[in-house]
Amino acid sequence: MALVTSKEMFKKAYEGGYAIGAFNVNNMEIIQGITEAAKETNAPLILQVSAGARKYANHTYLMKLIEAAVEETGLPICVHLDHGDTFELCKSCIDGGFTSVMIDGSHHSFEENIKLTKQVVEYAHAKGVTVEGELGRLAGIEDAVNVSEEDAAFTDPDQVEEFVQKTGVDSLAIAIGTSHGAFKFKGDAKLRFDILEEIQKRLPGFPIVLHGASSVMPEYVEMINKFGGEMPGAKGVPEDMLRKAASMAVCKINIDSDLRLALTGTIRQYFAQNPSHFDPRQYLGPARASIKEIVKHKIVNVLGCDGKA
Ligand code: G3H
Ligand code: 13P
Ligand code: ZN
Repeated sequence: MALVTSKEMFKKAYEGGYAIGAFNVNNMEIIQGITEAAKETNAPLILQVSAGARKYANHTYLMKLIEAAVEETGLPICVHLDHGDTFELCKSCIDGGFTSVMIDGSHHSFEENIKLTKQVVEYAHAKGVTVEGELGRLAGIEDAVNVSEEDAAFTDPDQVEEFVQKTGVDSLAIAIGTSHGAFKFKGDAKLRFDILEEIQKRLPGFPIVLHGASSVMPEYVEMINKFGGEMPGAKGVPEDMLRKAASMAVCKINIDSDLRLALTGTIRQYFAQNPSHFDPRQYLGPARASIKEIVKHKIVNVLGCDGKA
């Protein structure tokens, strides 16, 4: 099996009422933990690389590690640029072997977003690469001070058909109340399923993407707080909401913060219990095992994509 685009994965996920996990990768242990979990559950997989990850680990190192994961697992794996913000960055990733890119023009005007996204789509499609666009703004939604500002940040269902038709994107990231990081809700978690439903009606059969979808698993937040960290009030998207989204038009669910928390919590615990150890394999090994465990849990209990590779 070689690297694949997201096309076939999303078609099957939409029809099957499940979602594919898109996990952010930054180093070998993270890639190994995720791909071992996917192998054991026979799940299709998206490994996504942010501009920051590419800067940290280097494009070639990440590509080679992902190619090794394909060889080791035999799974369909899509390698995707997360939050590309310029045509040049998307082009560089496409030329460097990525099979999918996100062009995030959500901070531009609607017209500028269409123009930039269309430019990326034309380049990507000519090379057989799929493209994710974004409409609506994710970060800081929970900080909105009044209803009208809050509503302005959610995806407007009236814009989605025109955006998809004019850009030719293969999938669309939307804002319905999730946000990036470990502090997503101050009070009760609330997602605008009414907006998702309306978008699904306007774009029948079209794959939708949910960013900011970590659950901020309490056991790892507790582990961090127990072993010297300070994350009071950390809160994520409840898993039953993610399962509901996966049963609807959401075909790709983005998870990064949960992996970071698992890795960091495990390493904090390790050093608290073994203060004199200094062999990196001794603490990176358990951290990798925690990532594997959490990804298996997501695949089987949240995404529903086990057995679908
Ligand atoms: O949405 C952002 C992802 O969690 C990646 O974060 O830009 O710090 O690598 P990063
Ligand atoms: P989380 O911060 O909720 O893990 O979201 C990750 C994400 O959306 C990456 O694009
Ligand atoms: Zn994101």
